Amino acid sequence: MKYYSIAIDGPAGSGKGTIAKALAAKLNYLYIDTGAMYRAVGLYFLKHNLEITEENVKNNLNNINVKLKYVDKELKVYLNSEDVSLEIRTEEASRASSKVSVFDCVREKLVSMQQKMALEANVIMEGRDIGTVVLPNANLKIFLTASVLERAKRRYKEQIEKGLEVSLDAIEKDIKERDYRDTNRENSPLKQAEDAILIDSSEMTIDEVVNKVLSLCKVGGKYEKNE
Ligand code: DC
Repeated sequence: MKYYSIAIDGPAGSGKGTIAKALAAKLNYLYIDTGAMYRAVGLYFLKHNLEITEENVKNNLNNINVKLKYVDKELKVYLNSEDVSLEIRTEEASRASSKVSVFDCVREKLVSMQQKMALEANVIMEGRDIGTVVLPNANLKIFLTASVLERAKRRYKEQIEKGLEVSLDAIEKDIKERDYRDTNRENSPLKQAEDAILIDSSEMTIDEVVNKVLSLCKVGGKYEKNE
């Protein structure tokens, strides 16, 4: 492999995105948020008022063009040339992404795009199946997790800061349901790869996790900073 790759997998709310972004900035690697790609596919069905059924997914997949692009160092997500970076973050888009992600044809299309991206640059790729399916030969694999309560508290804080009224119990319940769906689906369920290093971030700050991963890169002797 010409380029280096770091795979970060883990459940919803484990802080993968924050950690992956911070690491990518430190190492000058390309940050790839694979969840954003599933969200964009899900959004297509919302925008076209189409129910997410196997038949509809199969019939429409060829009309769905998802692209990740960097604009001023910000990751932007495009659905058929439209910037949907904000729209994919709604609860509705989140639910739709979870529904489309169970279909083989969707996974095949997105996984093949993700594998191509890793052939063209040093990447930090974040998702559910990166270490197990997308990049089985990644130079470093991290499985990032945190207790359900800790993840619920983090999300609660985020929502409160946004001025939203939420309950910690409801968030905890939602996280448990998402964990169940992600780990029990038939296709590429969320699973720690055998050679992935487990980091439980429940009692760690963001900086501590970032430094821990950086130290693992060095121990493995497998990373180079892009200058
Ligand atoms: O990480 P996220 O919440 O943005 O992901 C959105 C959905 O996409 C989530 O329900 C799981 C799915 N997903 C997946 O199946 N495989 C990935 N590599 C990334 C996300």
